Amino acid sequence: MPIEWNEKEKVFHLSNGRVSYIIQLVLGKYPAHLYWGRQVKTRQSSSILAFKGRAFSPTTEPKDPKFSLDTLPQEYPAYGNGDFRSPAYQLRSADGSTITEFVYNSHEIFQGKRPLKGLPAAYIEDDSEADTLIITLVDSLLGVGMNLHYTIYRDLDVITRSVSFEHLGSREVELHKCMSMSVDFHQADWDWLHLHGTWSRERHIERSSLHHGIQTISSARGASSHQHNPFIALLSRNTDEEYGDVYGVSLVYSGNFQAAIEVDSFQTTRLSIGINPFDFTWLLKPGETFQTPEAIMVYSSDGLGGMSRTYHKLLRTRVCRGVYRDKTRPILINNWEATYFDFNEKKLKKIADAGNELGIELFVLDDGWFGRRDNDKSSLGDWVVNRKKLPNGLAGLADYIGKKRMQFGLWVEPEMVSPDSELYRRHPDWCLHVPGRRRTPSRNQLVLDLSRKEVCDYLIDTLSKVFKSAPISYVKWDMNRNMTEIGSAALPPERQRETVHRYMLGLYWILEKLTERFPTILYESCSGGGGRFDPGMLYYMPQTWTSDDTDAVERLKIQYGTSLIYPAITMGAHVSDVPNHQVGRTTPLLMRCHVAMAANLGFELNIDKLSEDDKTLVAAQIQQYHQIKDLVCFGDQFRLLSPFAGMDTAWMYVSPKQERAVVFYYKTLATPNPPFFRLKLRGLKREAMYKVNNDDKVFFGDELMQIGLTLPLIKKDYSSHLYQIEKVN
Ligand code: GLA
Repeated sequence: MPIEWNEKEKVFHLSNGRVSYIIQLVLGKYPAHLYWGRQVKTRQSSSILAFKGRAFSPTTEPKDPKFSLDTLPQEYPAYGNGDFRSPAYQLRSADGSTITEFVYNSHEIFQGKRPLKGLPAAYIEDDSEADTLIITLVDSLLGVGMNLHYTIYRDLDVITRSVSFEHLGSREVELHKCMSMSVDFHQADWDWLHLHGTWSRERHIERSSLHHGIQTISSARGASSHQHNPFIALLSRNTDEEYGDVYGVSLVYSGNFQAAIEVDSFQTTRLSIGINPFDFTWLLKPGETFQTPEAIMVYSSDGLGGMSRTYHKLLRTRVCRGVYRDKTRPILINNWEATYFDFNEKKLKKIADAGNELGIELFVLDDGWFGRRDNDKSSLGDWVVNRKKLPNGLAGLADYIGKKRMQFGLWVEPEMVSPDSELYRRHPDWCLHVPGRRRTPSRNQLVLDLSRKEVCDYLIDTLSKVFKSAPISYVKWDMNRNMTEIGSAALPPERQRETVHRYMLGLYWILEKLTERFPTILYESCSGGGGRFDPGMLYYMPQTWTSDDTDAVERLKIQYGTSLIYPAITMGAHVSDVPNHQVGRTTPLLMRCHVAMAANLGFELNIDKLSEDDKTLVAAQIQQYHQIKDLVCFGDQFRLLSPFAGMDTAWMYVSPKQERAVVFYYKTLATPNPPFFRLKLRGLKREAMYKVNNDDKVFFGDELMQIGLTLPLIKKDYSSHLYQIEKVN
C-alpha cells in the first residue's frame, strides 16, 4: 500500500518505491513533518521528538514542558500559539481574533485522486495511478474543519497538496491566508532557485544561497506574471543538471501567488506556496467550503534535469487535457509581426499562400480583425468582424485558407474591454473598478470583472458565436495588461478582497465551458507573451506563447528557463524577421529556425517577401521539423549547456525507448581561435550504437555521452547545429 498508517506510532508514510513523504501526528494532535525525499524503509519517530523547545519557547503541554510548537517541524502551521515563523494560514473569527487551534480529528486514505471543484489540478485516468491521504483537523471553538489533501503518484515522483476549509460552525469566519502547502525541512544549507523576468524577458533563472529570515517571490498583478513564475525550488549546494537533491514546488494557479522560504535560528527551512495573502480575504459562511489551488511537489535526486523531466511528464500527460494533449501541433504562421494592425484580406492571403507553399499548416489571424481596431486604442469587447478589412468576414478568409488544406486560427482577448467600445458604453460597470476612483488604463484597456456571473455568461455566449462563425481550429487567447483598482460592483464591501480570486474562478469556468463546447480547437494562451505561463492555464490550453521576444538569442534563455518546469510541447516558438523587432539584432535564418524548432514551430513574418534562397531554407527546415517533432514534443529533455553560463547553449530530446534523439547546439558570439570542443550527450543507452546525421560512422552511446560529439570549429556569431541521432542494430 503506497500510503501506510502506523496507528501505534501515529505515522503516515506516503511512498511509491522511490520517494517517501512522512508525517507524524505528534501528541495525537499536530501533524508534524518528518521527511520528504528519496525512499526510506522506516521512519524514525525519535528524530521528531528531538525538536524540543528552546529559551523563550512557549509550551502548550503541561505534561511535557519541553514540547513547543516554536520548534516543531509542521505540515500546516498556525500563528499565535507558540510558532513564531510564517504561518501557512490565518483565520479571523467573528470575535475579531486570529487565534486558532486546529487539531487532528480523522483521516481518510484511498486509491485515486479527486478533482478540485472549480479549479485546475493534476488528474489521473485510472485510480491505480495515485493514492490519496486526507487529514482532517478541527478547531472546535470555531466549528471549522481543515482538510489537508496529499496525493502521491505511483509512476511519477510527484506529490500534490491542497487544503480545503469547511465551515461546520455557526458564525462566519474570514480567511486571511491559506497556502496550498507548507513543509519544514530539517536543514538549511540549500540554494533556492526561481524564475524571474519581465515582458519580453521571461523566466530567467536565478539561484542563490538561503539566508536566515524570509525570502519570497510573488505576484499581486492579477496574473501569475512575467515577473515571477509560480514555482520555487530548494537544491542541495552541489546540485547541477544531473546530480543532487532538488525539491520543486509549483502552483496550479494563474493569479496572485506567493512562494516563500523562511530559515529560522535552528536551521529549519519552511517552504510554502499558495494564493498571495497580500490583499486577500475570503468570507466563509457556515456551510461553505473554501478550496485552495493545488501545489505540485517534485523531488529529484537526479539534479535539475531529473526534476524537469518529472514536471514535463506530469504537465504534459496529467495536467494538459484535450485532443491535442498527445498530438504534435500544426506548424503555424501568424500575421502579427508581419502586419501588426495594418492588414486587409489581400495581404493576409499573400502570407497564407507563401506559407502554404513552404509547408506551413495553419494560418493565424492575430489582433485587429474586429470592431474598429486599427491600433490598440479601441474595440476590445466588440467581437464583430471588421468588414472594411475583411469584406468576406472570417468565414470568407477561413474558406480561402481551408481550400489550401491549411487550418485557420484566430486571436482573441476576451478578458478585456476598451473604454472606446460598444461593450463599455453599454456596461460601464462590467470592468474591475472602485466607485469614485480612477479606472487606470494599461495599453488603453480595462479588465472585465470575471467575478460576475453575467459577465462570464456573456463571454461564453459571445465567443461561442465567434468560434462558430467560421471553421476555426486554433484560438490564441491573450491577456494584455495586469489589474489595478481591483474591485467588483457586484460584491458587498466585506467581499471586495475576494474579487481577484473570484476572477480566476470565473476565468476557469469560462475556459472549462468553451473547451467543452469546442473540444477540437487547439488553444494557445498568451499574456503579452509569457505573462501567464503556468500550470493553471495549461489545464485548459495545452500550449502558451512563450514570449513576445522572438529574437533567437534572447529566446535561448527564455526557452531554457521555461524548460525548468514546462515541456517543449507547451511552448510556442516563432521564426521572425530581422532586424528583430524587440532587440534589433540580426541573426541568420538558420539559427532562428533551429531555436523555434526546439518547441512548437511557427513563423511570424512576411514570408512572401523572403528571398528564394531563404524560402528554400525554410522549406527544408520544415521538412526536418517533421522528422524530429515527435522527439521535441514527447521526448525526454536533457539540457546540456546553459545560455546563462556563456556563449554556448545545447539541449537534446531523447525518445522514450532511447532509440532516437535530436541535439540542438547554438553559439551566440564566436571566440577567436577557439578550443576544440566536444559536446557530451545524455540520456542514450550506453551500450547501444548510434549514427549521427545518418553518417556512416557509428558510436556507442557511452562514447557520445562520455567522450562527446566533436563539434566543428565555429567562426561566425549566431551559429547553430542540429544533430539527428539514430540507433543502429
Ligand atoms: C500580445 C501578444 C502578441 C500579439 C499582440 C496583439 O502582445 O503577445 O503576440 O498577439 O498582443 O495585440
